[in-house]
Order: sequence, then C-alpha cells, then structure tokens
Amino acid sequence: MCNRSSEPVHSWRIHSTELISGLSGKHSPRLEKLAEMLNENAKVLDIGCGSGRNTLFLKKMDFHVVALDIASTPLLSLPAECLKVMATADSALPFRENSFDAIVDSYTFTFIENHKLYVSELSRILKPKGLLLVEFDKEPHIVPHSELKDILYEVFTKIFKVIEIHEIYHAWGCIFDETKKDVPALSAILQPM
Ligand SMILES: C[S@@+](CC[C@H](N)C(=O)[O-])C[C@H]1O[C@@H](n2cnc3c(N)ncnc32)[C@H](O)[C@@H]1O
Repeated sequence: MCNRSSEPVHSWRIHSTELISGLSGKHSPRLEKLAEMLNENAKVLDIGCGSGRNTLFLKKMDFHVVALDIASTPLLSLPAECLKVMATADSALPFRENSFDAIVDSYTFTFIENHKLYVSELSRILKPKGLLLVEFDKEPHIVPHSELKDILYEVFTKIFKVIEIHEIYHAWGCIFDETKKDVPALSAILQPM
C-alpha cells in the first residue's frame, strides 16, 4: 500500500484534523523526548502504527513519517502526506539500509514472534546514530517490570545500547491511558551500538 488513494484529498484532510484534535495528548509522552533528540526533517518510521496517534504527533512535528501496519484499516485513516506501508514487521522489512533517523515501536513488539530477525531488521534500516523508541507489555499483561527489563536486555542489547528506560503503566485494554496503573509496561530509547 502506498501514499495514494482514490479518496478525495479534502476528505483525508478533514479526517486527519479530526483525528489530531480527538487524539490530542494521546500520543506516547516519551515521543516528545524523542522528537527533541531528532534533527529537523528527520525521517521516522512508526512501526505498527495502529490508529496513528504517534504518526499524527510526528507529522505535527513536521518529521517525514512512514506508517507501517500489518492491517490496512488503520492506514486508511492516516493523512495522505504520510507514506503508508502495509506489511508485517515479523519478516524482512521493505526498506533499504540506513533509511530512518528514528523508529517508533509503541506496543508492536508485544506481537512480534521472531525477535531475532526483528531486532536485526530494525538495526539494518536505522541510520548508525538513529534512535529506536520501543514500548511494550507482555501477555498476560501482568508481567512485572523486572521481567520486561529482562526481555529488553535479552532481545535488544546485543545490537542496541540503552539511552534511557522508563517503567510505565497503562489501563487494561487501553495503551493510551497511562493514568491507571493496571498493566506494567516498559518504554526505552535505544541506539545501535
Ligand atoms: C496495540 S496496537 C499499537 C498501535 C500504535 N503503535 C499505538 O501505540 O497506538 C499494535 C499494532 O501493531 C500492529 N501489528 C501487530 N502485529 C504486527 C506485525 N507483525 N507487523 C506489523 N504490525 C503489526 C497491529 O495491527 C496494531 O495496529
């Protein structure tokens, strides 16, 4: 899937404006720190973009955003200016080496089965000084932070170094709502070693 649609442009625009106002403040709060660490015109991949809450924030910050999801429906609701890619993140990613200044994975890693391939693909498509924001919990969604940290270190730190790490929580069934401490999750900014 690409960034062109038969739907009239104005309809995309109206929809994206509604989404931006409706989701205002609902992007991952750590995205703001990531945005501060990036140069203007940075190219950012939102992998497993879902409803696009993070894609829209990145777009508002004027970054060049590529939104990838395994499902077509979330991609259809994103503005035409975002490049959209329908693909699985659980096999080779459809991008060249050193394509991105940053990758945002907010709760997509939770669904990835081939961790080894995933991490090596992320590192391949990230620029050498690129940044990866990864946020995840784990089924059955009551896994403590200590176990999530073990997973992070086991899976990522052979290839990435940790820049910062946060123990976070979200509400049951709602990753957007971090006001409730129902589900432990981890958020980390990483960089290729
Ligand atoms: C919990 S949602 C998170 C959505 C978004 N990142 C956010 O933070 O709002 C997980 C997303 O990952 C996508 N997803 C799950 N498995 C995937 C895969 N193998 N490849 C690409 N996307 C996947 C789902 O379609 C869904 O949109």
